[in-house]
Amino acid sequence: MSQLENKKILLGVCGGISAYKSAVLLRALQQAGAEVRVVMTSSAQAFVTPLTFQALCGHPVYTELLDPEQEAAMDHISLARWADMILVAPATANFIARVANGHASDLLSTLCLAATIPIALAPAMNQAMWNNPATQRNIDTITRYGYRLWGPDEGDQACGETGPGRMLEPETLLRRASDFLKPGPLRGVSVLMTAGGTQEPIDPVRFVGNRSSGKMGYALAEAMRDLGAEVTLVSGPVSLNPPSAIDICTVQTANEMRDAVMARVEECSIFIAVAAVADYRPASVAAEKIKKRSDSLNLELVRNPDILAEVAALADPPFTVGFAAETEQVEAFAEEKRRSKGVDMIAANQVGTSEGGFESDRNSLTLLWEGGRESLAMMEKSHLARQLSERILKRYQLERGVDE
Ligand code: C5P
Repeated sequence: MSQLENKKILLGVCGGISAYKSAVLLRALQQAGAEVRVVMTSSAQAFVTPLTFQALCGHPVYTELLDPEQEAAMDHISLARWADMILVAPATANFIARVANGHASDLLSTLCLAATIPIALAPAMNQAMWNNPATQRNIDTITRYGYRLWGPDEGDQACGETGPGRMLEPETLLRRASDFLKPGPLRGVSVLMTAGGTQEPIDPVRFVGNRSSGKMGYALAEAMRDLGAEVTLVSGPVSLNPPSAIDICTVQTANEMRDAVMARVEECSIFIAVAAVADYRPASVAAEKIKKRSDSLNLELVRNPDILAEVAALADPPFTVGFAAETEQVEAFAEEKRRSKGVDMIAANQVGTSEGGFESDRNSLTLLWEGGRESLAMMEKSHLARQLSERILKRYQLERGVDE
């Protein structure tokens, strides 16, 4: 069976010279088994007529946002819900700017704004337009919003210039779509995670906190999602954009994080505790802002619940993964933590050094499990998260006897 069998793809076509290649792409997607509907912007119709796509796909092409006839066939929200993914090829600089700014000025941009499914863009434009800081800023924005960027390619351009900006060839886009839509190994598996740090209030304006940025937890949540898992992320306060297709529950304190986790833990098969949970909280929270009246102030702290240990001690615990941030004897302390908390796998990292750790974009990890260990070298947290997600998947499958 083809990997695109029964997959529903909404093919968006913008106004660029490579729009003619979209007709070839449409045929290739169909031949691979996908069901395709086409949406064209008005400038796309200056390059190729809707009739070309209609004849190839066997369905009317959607072009208008406010056309009662087209809306009667399938309104724009139903169209966004119908598809498994939206692929915009070619995606022009103008279209990218529109989605980066949340415009809903025509049917295609409205569909992207209304969509809860993955969206991939295949950019196509002149190399100077691609390199322009405004375009690069828009690209940066939409990638953070969760848009996938397929391309562009480098090479000769229709305008006679050479450089980055060519749309990927239809066969490459077909391969990207097939890889992207193939069922992930964790499809249907529910993963619960914690990320970020907690804030323990002292009074209405102050708290005890830590340096956790949430970057590692958020990157790992995305990597688990990309393996097909249904991810719920219980997050402390962070300044990161919420990742797409991940259920987020935001909390402030360790107690709130514990309650949010315990309310959801029964439904999950894997629990990953990445959060830097405060070990202690102020014994009491002052109702009013504490005034600086004396030379010293004693803050009495009491222990917070250990969420990871509590989950691991459940009668029927999920597969549990913990983190251990240590400043010395990293592996020995992490192994001791793994055993004392009774978790299946622990990811240990060195903190307090110049590279890696809490606020950094890079990190390295040593993974420890019963009878095994593996080191993952210093790299970008997003890459590290992907490698870690694959190791978690493997240990989960081996220990829980889940078929690969
Ligand atoms: O004991 P320590 O804080 O070093 O353990 C770290 C691991 O335990 C991390 O996975 C962290 O998310 C988890 N943890 C927790 N609840 C706490 C403290 C730590 O879930 N109160």
